Amino acid sequence: MWKGRFAQETSALVQRYGESVSFDWRLYAHDIAGSIAHSKGLLKAGILTAEEQQQIEKGLLGIRADIENGEFEFKEALEDVHMNIEAELTRRIGPAGAKLHTARSRNDQVATDARLYCRSSIDTIMKLVRAMQAALVECAERGGDTVMPGYTHLQRGQPVFFAHHLLAYVEMLERDTSRLADCRQRLNVMPLGSGALAGSTIILDREYVASLLGFDGVTQNSMDAVSDRDFVAEFLFTISMIGVHLSRLSEDVILWASAEFAFVTLSDAHTTGSSLMPQKKNPDVAELTRGKSARLIGNLMSLLALIKGLPMTYNRDLQEDKEPLFDSIDTISAALEVFAEMVSGMDVNRARTEAAAADPMLLATDLADYLVNRGVPFRQAHEVIGKLVAHSIAERKPFGDMSLEEFQGFSQAFKADVMSCLNVKTAMEARKGIGAPSPQNVRDRLAHWRDVLSSC
Ligand code: ARG
Repeated sequence: MWKGRFAQETSALVQRYGESVSFDWRLYAHDIAGSIAHSKGLLKAGILTAEEQQQIEKGLLGIRADIENGEFEFKEALEDVHMNIEAELTRRIGPAGAKLHTARSRNDQVATDARLYCRSSIDTIMKLVRAMQAALVECAERGGDTVMPGYTHLQRGQPVFFAHHLLAYVEMLERDTSRLADCRQRLNVMPLGSGALAGSTIILDREYVASLLGFDGVTQNSMDAVSDRDFVAEFLFTISMIGVHLSRLSEDVILWASAEFAFVTLSDAHTTGSSLMPQKKNPDVAELTRGKSARLIGNLMSLLALIKGLPMTYNRDLQEDKEPLFDSIDTISAALEVFAEMVSGMDVNRARTEAAAADPMLLATDLADYLVNRGVPFRQAHEVIGKLVAHSIAERKPFGDMSLEEFQGFSQAFKADVMSCLNVKTAMEARKGIGAPSPQNVRDRLAHWRDVLSSC
């Protein structure tokens, strides 16, 4: 392929080893958009005539249509998406096509394409995260005021609403959305015009080209611009974080769907059977999502390891950024989509969660708070209730079955109204602080999220 200084053909092995078109063809729409904008920059600089620019634009749009119709043959011998498109353009329109690569290198071209690709993928993923949040809010609303135990160390801690538990994930996903927006903003500067590493002696109006491509500005150091893949790392981290959040939710769902918990029922459409055990109904979507989050983390690690030892500026190693990037985008998109569908088909088993939440031990902290409200220092109250818990276990007697005298045997601060503390409903009503799960707070948050999500 290379004429000029080479006397020998590239070895077939090297060609196969070095080609990237088998995966970077996915950049075609952004490559073409970048080339059209570049041609307009060349026109403005007087390198192309209006007629040549039009030929180029028309030719490129024709190639894009052919690719989209499956009528374009990418050739491995032409190495990558950039050269496939440029070679075909020149084949179709002749000399004007051969002028397109003026003041440009594949180094600034691929960096531009990758930023455009990430930008549009962020927009898609953001919508999928929103849809996932909406599915969680809808499932939380369907659950109504169902109470369940909240856990620390996977030991029953205090009662919460099922809705409050699901809304925790809505908060996590909200942070992910803002990370995506942040990443999008930082990557939205145009490297094109940086050339191979030192710009060009042919001066184009980079800001004009950038505005055509929807960039907010242009990069300020040509050497940095062609070798910078921070934006890929940031995007892969953000995707990994979403994956990790989905993985945590997966773990909850897997536990909840077990016979031991039986807190939720998953729809038949989102579970699978066993080839051997006829009774099984497995939460595969959650398990796969927990598993796939591992490879999202792996892709982030690949990228970081890829760039850590690179001297300035562009090195061919950077071609290895694309497969992890594409894989993470595909994986998280599929996971968000299928997970939202599964959550829409998930029902809470109120009888089970409320039976578990009726464990009087869950109100031990409320009893300590009761004593605090009557002037007992918390550390002392904690100890009193600890002894009361031990007594309850030894006597096999729930708090609710104890007499006032029994309570007073542990502390004189107990009065007849202590019994009102032992009611889950009252306990929930009492959790009024910001962020805590009182019924009103949870209703307010549901309304808040419904509002936020309906406006995006
Ligand atoms: N396929 C290459 C990549 O993804 C395009 C840039 C090639 N540049 C070069 N100097 N060989 O990085």
